[in-house]
Amino acid sequence: MSDRVRLGMIGGGQGAFIGAVHRAAARLDDNYHLIAGALSSTPEKSIASAKELGLAADRSYPTWQAMLKAELARPAAERIEAVSIVTPNHAHFEPAKAFAEAGIAVILDKPMVHSVEQATQLQQVVRERDVVFAVTYNYSGYPLVKQAREMVRAGELGEIRKVVVEYNQGWLATKLEESGQKQADWRTDPARSGVGGCIGDIGSHCENLASYITGLEIDSLCADLTTFVPGRKLDDDANVLLRFKPAKGGVAAKGILFASQICVGGENDLRIRVWGTKGAIAWRQEDPNALLVHRPGAPDQVYRRGNDYLASTAKGAARLPSGHPEAFFEAFATVYTNAAKAIRAGAGAKGPDQFDFPGVDDGARGVRFIHRTVESSTSSQKWLAF
Ligand SMILES: NC(=O)c1ccc[n+]([C@@H]2O[C@H](COP(=O)([O-])OP(=O)(O)OC[C@H]3O[C@@H](n4cnc5c(N)ncnc54)[C@H](O)[C@@H]3O)[C@@H](O)[C@H]2O)c1
Repeated sequence: MSDRVRLGMIGGGQGAFIGAVHRAAARLDDNYHLIAGALSSTPEKSIASAKELGLAADRSYPTWQAMLKAELARPAAERIEAVSIVTPNHAHFEPAKAFAEAGIAVILDKPMVHSVEQATQLQQVVRERDVVFAVTYNYSGYPLVKQAREMVRAGELGEIRKVVVEYNQGWLATKLEESGQKQADWRTDPARSGVGGCIGDIGSHCENLASYITGLEIDSLCADLTTFVPGRKLDDDANVLLRFKPAKGGVAAKGILFASQICVGGENDLRIRVWGTKGAIAWRQEDPNALLVHRPGAPDQVYRRGNDYLASTAKGAARLPSGHPEAFFEAFATVYTNAAKAIRAGAGAKGPDQFDFPGVDDGARGVRFIHRTVESSTSSQKWLAF
């Protein structure tokens, strides 16, 4: 794509984690040009961060409000066409809504917003303004996750009966937030993280991965959230039973979703297993170039990234020949690249469906999932309709 999308960024300044991953993902396939930023929570740090990245002084903004105003005052051919929002969760809704209302495409990290009401508002704005809106559920970008999705869609696993999806981390097994560690600090604070701790931070990835691969819709859920670390204000461990809506004329699948940040030794141990009547698949984020496939009465098979036998979507999401490992950056870049294609095609609100990336509806479902698990966990009724 010679005509690179003019990109602005909110968040991702000095000391931030995921902003740098977004910048690398945006550049990997050369589809974007980062030209503006309001990169941090204070004006001084925003300007200093922009200087480090080599942004022009007149497009290094103290706040996102200043960026929006100044960019809209520029001729349309110069102003940013898309904005990446990589701030902590409490600072997602307002900029996402304001930029989408201004007709600027939004690429926003998960969980999308704090409340179901905010999520509904964003869905409305995206439809009314017909803008491209991506939510970086980056695990959907892995080639073998796309392969698993294609196999389910093609009926290769038969009717889906059971889904087990898990994400085990150990980095919050102690009260890390007391040390001032930036990422732990806001993630354990309800005012900035939202109603969910671990369930919002990584349980939401599980929900999205299961939905993306299986296409199943949750019918009801029963959640047990725990705060193991004394004095912490949000959950750090989540165990959720899922009942899915029956597939057309078929069985109602069951699911188990668990996510934890107190699993000592766990790094980013995200896994999914799906069992159907004709076969099963298993995928692990820490070994992402392989997909294990079981079929009854046959030896197990390992599908590997970069091979001709894969589905076209899986082949299209790979950049290197088989055997050269690809992983987190590349999967993130696939979300960015597909969003860029949607922007260039003028796909607007239909972008996610036409170009295969998570959109505002996926983001809204994720927010609802977090709220329903928290409600179920605190309710005596336990099983709640989704
Ligand atoms: N998709 C993924 O795999 C993934 C991984 C990590 C984080 N995330 C999400 O990305 C977001 C950021 O997480 P992080 O770990 O990078 O956080 P972080 O604390 O490392 O970085 C957040 C950045 O946002 C800036 N910021 C805060 N308020 C701002 C404001 N009003 N205007 C401009 N900048 C502001 C901070 O100064 C900081 O630079 C969160 O929503 C998180 O859930 C997603």
